[in-house]
Amino acid sequence: MPIECKATGHPPLLLAVTGASGIIYAVKFLEIMAGLGQEVDLILSEAGQQVAELELGSAGTDKLKGFARMVYDLHDMAAAPASGSARWKAMVILPCTMGTLASVANGLSSNLIHRAADCFLKERRPLIMVPRETPFNRNHLRNMVLAHEAGAVIFPAMPSFYHRPSSIDEMAEFFAGRLSEFIGLPVPGLKRWTGM
Ligand SMILES: Cc1cc2nc3c(=O)[nH]c(=O)nc-3n(C[C@H](O)[C@H](O)[C@H](O)COP(=O)(O)O)c2cc1C
Repeated sequence: MPIECKATGHPPLLLAVTGASGIIYAVKFLEIMAGLGQEVDLILSEAGQQVAELELGSAGTDKLKGFARMVYDLHDMAAAPASGSARWKAMVILPCTMGTLASVANGLSSNLIHRAADCFLKERRPLIMVPRETPFNRNHLRNMVLAHEAGAVIFPAMPSFYHRPSSIDEMAEFFAGRLSEFIGLPVPGLKRWTGM
């Protein structure tokens, strides 16, 4: 059962990485969590592993796992995240595919990511989904509304440009920093808008 991290005083986060493009956001988010001393437990979908290896190289999955306090098997429906009695600070699905979005929005608990998200919703705990697709069809849009109505936060993978990022790394890092602050984990040194 998760307990508070010494550095932040918060329980660990539960991060699910699914098979959408943008695994760099998960890497940057994990780097920020490591810098804060915030522990993270991880669940990877099979497509998430595939896209991680495509976008980060053959060691992509291991890189993600290297940040985690523990890694849960996607098909272990007896693992702690499958129960509403387990406690994490929040669950983040980053990036979130349209398939996982549809499953969560419609309550299909067919793997541990879907079931954990369902538990977060029923227990009224923070669930943040970072969908990535373009363009959206009507099902995607409907599923985002359904998930929002059930209590999830839709935090789309939309990078900002007003801080003038000079690299993809910087762009992804800023997005991950905003996500961290949204969850209530302030990021020292995050660039802030101070006016024109
Ligand atoms: C290279 C690659 C990129 C993909 N990008 C996306 C994406 O951005 N958004 C999305 O919804 N699906 C994307 N997919 C498709 C999903 O991986 C696929 O629908 C998968 O079944 C989703 O499973 P999961 O939700 O369990 O990870 C991509 C697949 C590949 C191979």
